[in-house]
Amino acid sequence: MNIRINFDAEVERNGTSSAKWDRYRGTDILPMWVADMDFEVSPEIAKAMQQRLAHGVFGYTNKPDNINELVVERLHRLYQWRIEPNWLVWLPGVISGMHMGTRCIGSSGDSVLVPSVIYPPVKSIPELCARNAQTVPMVKNEGRWVLDLDWIEANINSESRVLLLCNPQNPGGSVYTGDELGRLADLVVAHDLIVCSDEVHCDLILEPGRAHIPIASLNQEIAKRSITLMASSKTFNTAGLSCAFAVVPDVSLRRRFKNAGEGIVPYVNVFGYNSTQAAYQTGDDWNRQLVEYLKANRDYLVQEINAIRGLKLDLVEATYLAWIDISDLGLDHPKSFFDKAGVGLSPGREFGDDRFMRLNFGCPRSRVEEAVTRIRLAVSDYLGN
Ligand SMILES: Cc1ncc(COP(=O)(O)O)c(C=O)c1O
Repeated sequence: MNIRINFDAEVERNGTSSAKWDRYRGTDILPMWVADMDFEVSPEIAKAMQQRLAHGVFGYTNKPDNINELVVERLHRLYQWRIEPNWLVWLPGVISGMHMGTRCIGSSGDSVLVPSVIYPPVKSIPELCARNAQTVPMVKNEGRWVLDLDWIEANINSESRVLLLCNPQNPGGSVYTGDELGRLADLVVAHDLIVCSDEVHCDLILEPGRAHIPIASLNQEIAKRSITLMASSKTFNTAGLSCAFAVVPDVSLRRRFKNAGEGIVPYVNVFGYNSTQAAYQTGDDWNRQLVEYLKANRDYLVQEINAIRGLKLDLVEATYLAWIDISDLGLDHPKSFFDKAGVGLSPGREFGDDRFMRLNFGCPRSRVEEAVTRIRLAVSDYLGN
């Protein structure tokens, strides 16, 4: 029988060097910014790590024997994507992989297409890789933030080399549809680009009727031009363990990709492998219960935030990150406004749009409720109603 996971449990994270909690140490501000969750890992992951810890020796570590097969089986079962074990490259992080993918194509001065609103470390990739950024506008289509495909079609040029994609989209939470991805893939193929697709939030689809589609799974042409980054870290809340993988179907692209990290990007650590192996071996039910819990948090948040005059929140199709439109408040300093309200959010400006704040609802419901109460009070005080 499956154990019922208690996601309502409050876990004390102060005093654990948590990046999320340290920022507001000694204050009454609820940390709801960076994308990790306030939940314990599954009992199975904890047990696997304790068993490995008990061995007491933590030298250089190869990937576990069956881990590639676990990923191959998982991607086929969950996303109908057939990959080969030797397409996998293990990495200490998704962002390292996005950099390697960008650096291994073309040379300095070439252009990289990057969404105008995106997780900040992705936003800074073109500049850090000495490439020109071609900033692709995000447009709202029936309440979903998606890439402006017409803009891409009109602006791709002979200097464009790489497209950086984030699917599901962070922030905004859109799950790209087969039609949207198909059109994007056709443009990538027609212009001989490489797509670096960050799909780290793929197991966190909250909206019934939506499904994650890896862009590389669409056809062989796009597969050959793709580097897909995934990890167990967002789903199973192990971001501090530094483990991710790239799927690179084309052999020569894979060689170039690996070379781009040679001597710079460290190996994956023993607990990164160990937790990923345990997650993929045992985590389906935990993942299902998590999605159920996050969906309820999302439904509550969408209803309550939209009931506050001056705030708007579209449906978050995936992730545990709510992209709240605060533009009607006309705030000069949104971050300090919400800090003063007692809720620590991520400023939209860092992602590319200062009309928004991002709220992490990967935490017990009680904290989401407290955040809503504080926000409601601060906004109504401010608007004088
Ligand atoms: C879209 C996205 N990509 C990548 C990352 C970070 O991945 P990693 O820590 O493996 O580099 C995050 C973390 O929030 C994210 O939201």
